[in-house]
Amino acid sequence: MRERKMDALQWRILPVLTLIASFLLFFYFQYPSQQYPKNCSLLPFQHYWIASKRIVTPQGVISGAVEIKDGKIASIVKEEEKHGKIKSENVIDYGEAVVMPGLIDVHAHLDDPGRAEWEGFPSGTKAAAAGGITTLVDMPLNSDPSTVSRETLELKIKAAESRIYVDVGFWGGLVPENAFNASALEDLLDAGVLGLKSFMCPSGINDFPMTNASHIKEGLSVLAKYRRPLLVHAEKEQELESNLGVEDGSNNPRSYSTYLKTRPPSWEEAAIKDLLTLTKDTRIGGPAEGAHLHIVHLSDSRSSLDLIKEAKSGGDSLTVETCPHYLAFSAEEIPDGDTRFKCSPPIRDAANKEKLWEALLEGHVDMLSSDHSPTMPELKLLDGGDFLKAWGGISSLQFVLPVTWSYGQKYGVTLQQLALWWSERPARLAGQKLKGAIAVGNHADIVVWDPDVEFDLDDEFPMHVKHPGISAYLGTKLSGRVAATFVRGNLVFEEGKHAPAVCGVPILAS
Ligand SMILES: *[C@@H]1O[C@H](CO)[C@@H](O)[C@H](O)[C@H]1NC(C)=O
Ligand SMILES: *[C@@H]1O[C@H](CO)[C@@H](O)[C@H](O)[C@H]1NC(C)=O
Ligand SMILES: [Zn+2]
Repeated sequence: MRERKMDALQWRILPVLTLIASFLLFFYFQYPSQQYPKNCSLLPFQHYWIASKRIVTPQGVISGAVEIKDGKIASIVKEEEKHGKIKSENVIDYGEAVVMPGLIDVHAHLDDPGRAEWEGFPSGTKAAAAGGITTLVDMPLNSDPSTVSRETLELKIKAAESRIYVDVGFWGGLVPENAFNASALEDLLDAGVLGLKSFMCPSGINDFPMTNASHIKEGLSVLAKYRRPLLVHAEKEQELESNLGVEDGSNNPRSYSTYLKTRPPSWEEAAIKDLLTLTKDTRIGGPAEGAHLHIVHLSDSRSSLDLIKEAKSGGDSLTVETCPHYLAFSAEEIPDGDTRFKCSPPIRDAANKEKLWEALLEGHVDMLSSDHSPTMPELKLLDGGDFLKAWGGISSLQFVLPVTWSYGQKYGVTLQQLALWWSERPARLAGQKLKGAIAVGNHADIVVWDPDVEFDLDDEFPMHVKHPGISAYLGTKLSGRVAATFVRGNLVFEEGKHAPAVCGVPILAS
């Protein structure tokens, strides 16, 4: 347990009541209530210092303190320069705990509005805050309706407003219905989506049909003007072995290997080959210069990754993410009938996982995202365990930080790599110039965590997602416990407790 140490001196000298009264007065005159919702921070002040021996900055890990004023980072002072520079009495000393930029999850499905029984903005962002995620970008599908127009984005914003514990941005959908209509896409982008997302295979959601290369080309040409990215689910259906899906001894639907055979790496490879004929246009001087293509949740670390490396070295504006579940689990370990592990593209073999880590460490995979995609437990078919019929999607939002850290120990993952994969590069993808790093002038979006504290992720652990029982990480032991989360300077979560009111705001591109 880490204790927050206020400056002891002032507490001793002044009677507590006077102090509280002066805070209230200060607060009353200093800040209009609109700007800082009542009770949305567990701290009674807006100007304070966070001190620690391990503060992760873009320049390195330092011992010192971060000054926070009115939601922004006002200064950063190293230990040796601290003397005389800290004028505020409000110092929160976290000792050895790590102070890092809050995580930015660019891929989460919160299913709100329309399927809030699957997750919803309140529970999803509560879990995010408890997991050190200070910003997330919501996917345009799994809610009902999908976010494919100005009107449907407005429904999203309405569903999120005053109900989110962290900041939330939105991707819009690129679908056949709007892809050839530039004014429809411009309308959606003008309304504030941070970029677009499309599928190259059926999405599993009826009002979110797949796109082909022509749709994607059109989308990129519109996005170029806005300098916002297109995110693509890169799997393209290819012919399978003819007896798949037939239930005989070798094709038991309760066996994970049966499911794995239905979505081979060749699907990812085929989609990426198609995409790379288009990303050439994003090169400097190309017809879609200014556009950027981002491949979501890469699973295949072999041929698909080789293609991506080649395109990047040719100058294509291209990035790729993978998810903790592809780095933590391998196909061989997934028990029969345990559909908590079903997602697409699928979790592949152990050797694939090793190569994925290697690619991440070498910088060929740019960033991480949760792809948190929960549903109702009934749709996971946990009782029958049919991998072919169960809903595909992994529930993970609250645990991506300890998971990346715990499974990354073996590979020598550093704190700075975590900040790069989870904050700095995701901020750039989402166009958030004031987020993603502990730097002067940035939003004070910060996670404080204890890398060495271990915990069992069992039924007793306080999970904030709507359906804790479907999490693939249930039953694991993790290290890295989140102690506190700050969103724009507001302490929204500390020691298992959330602020009584919400502070998150919808993030709209302008
Ligand atoms: C294109 O989109 C605009 C705006 O949503 C709509 O008014 C118009 O009817 C669409 N055009 C076509 C040809 O579908
Ligand atoms: C993509 O689908 C559209 C119809 O929505 C069609 O006109 C176009 O030819 C298709 N492009 C490719 C490359 O298949
Ligand atoms: Zn997804």
